[in-house]
Amino acid sequence: MQSTSVQLNVKNIRKSFTGKAGDVQVLDDLSFTINERDFVSIIGPSGCGKTTIFNIIAGLLEPSSGTIHFRGEEVESLRGRVGYMMQKDLLFPWRTVLGNVMLGLETRGVDPGKAVDKARIYLQQFGLGGFENAYPKMLSGGMRQRVALIRTLIMDPDILLLDEPFSALDYQTRLYLEGVLKDAVETYNKTVILVTHDIDEAVALSKRVVVLSGRPARVKTVHDIDIEARSPIAARSDSRFSGYFHALCAELDIQTEATS
Ligand SMILES: Nc1ncnc2c1ncn2[C@@H]1O[C@H](COP(=O)(O)OP(=O)(O)OP(=O)(O)O)[C@@H](O)[C@H]1O
Ligand SMILES: [Mg+2]
Repeated sequence: MQSTSVQLNVKNIRKSFTGKAGDVQVLDDLSFTINERDFVSIIGPSGCGKTTIFNIIAGLLEPSSGTIHFRGEEVESLRGRVGYMMQKDLLFPWRTVLGNVMLGLETRGVDPGKAVDKARIYLQQFGLGGFENAYPKMLSGGMRQRVALIRTLIMDPDILLLDEPFSALDYQTRLYLEGVLKDAVETYNKTVILVTHDIDEAVALSKRVVVLSGRPARVKTVHDIDIEARSPIAARSDSRFSGYFHALCAELDIQTEATS
C-alpha cells in the first residue's frame, strides 16, 4: 500500500539576499509538505526563487527564517539526505563515465571494488553498459543527463532534488528521459521534488504540482494530479491531462487561447 505520511515539511521559509541596491526578498513565507515516495513538481515564473528553495533544503544556503522538518523532526537542512541534481550540473570532463558515477561513493569512502560493481549495475540498468570508459564529450546530451542522474541516485538519498534536469534537451530525448526517471524512482523507491518550467512535464510525471507566485515566491496553489498512467507518454493521452495543463497555465497567467 502507498504510504502518504509526511516526509518533509517546509514551513514559513523566508529568504532575502543583500545586494548593492539593498535587500531583495526572494522567498516569502513559503510552506509545503512532501510525502514519503511523493513526486512533486514545483513550477513558477523564471527567477522566482525555485533554485533558492533547493539550495536551502540541501543546506547550501540558510533561510532568513522558517523551519524544515524531516520525518517529524526539526533539522537545519537535509544535507546528506538529498541527492541534488543542480540546474547546471556538469559532469567532470576529465573523468570517464565510470569515474563520474563513482565520485560520490569515493568521497564517502566506499571500497573501490564495491563502488565499481555498484556503478556498473546502475550503468547497465540505465542503458549505458559499455560506456564506462567513455568521456562526457563523447556522449549525447541525453546520455550525459542519464550519467548525472545515476551519480545522484547511486548515493541512495532519501529525496531527489532535480532542478530542470531535462531543460536543455530536445523534446524526444526529454520524453524518453522522463520515462527513465519515472522507472528509476519506482525501482529505487525515491521521493522526488522536480523543478521544471515545462507544465506538460509536471503534469505527466507528478502526483502533485506546487505553483509559485513571482518573486518573492509564495505558494499560490497545490494541484493534485490524479493520473495513473504506465508512462509519462501514456499520461499525455489521459482524458484529464488537458484539464490539468490548462488549469496550471491559468495559474501561471499563460494564455493558451489564440488571441488576435
Ligand atoms: N546568492 C545570491 N545572491 C544574491 N541574489 C541571489 C542569489 N541567488 C539567487 N539570487 C537571486 O534570487 C532570485 C531567485 O533566484 P533563483 O535562482 O532561486 O530563481 P529560479 O526560480 O531558480 O530562476 P530560474 O527560473 O531562472 O532558474 C533571482 O533574482 C536571483 O538573482
Ligand atoms: Mg533556477
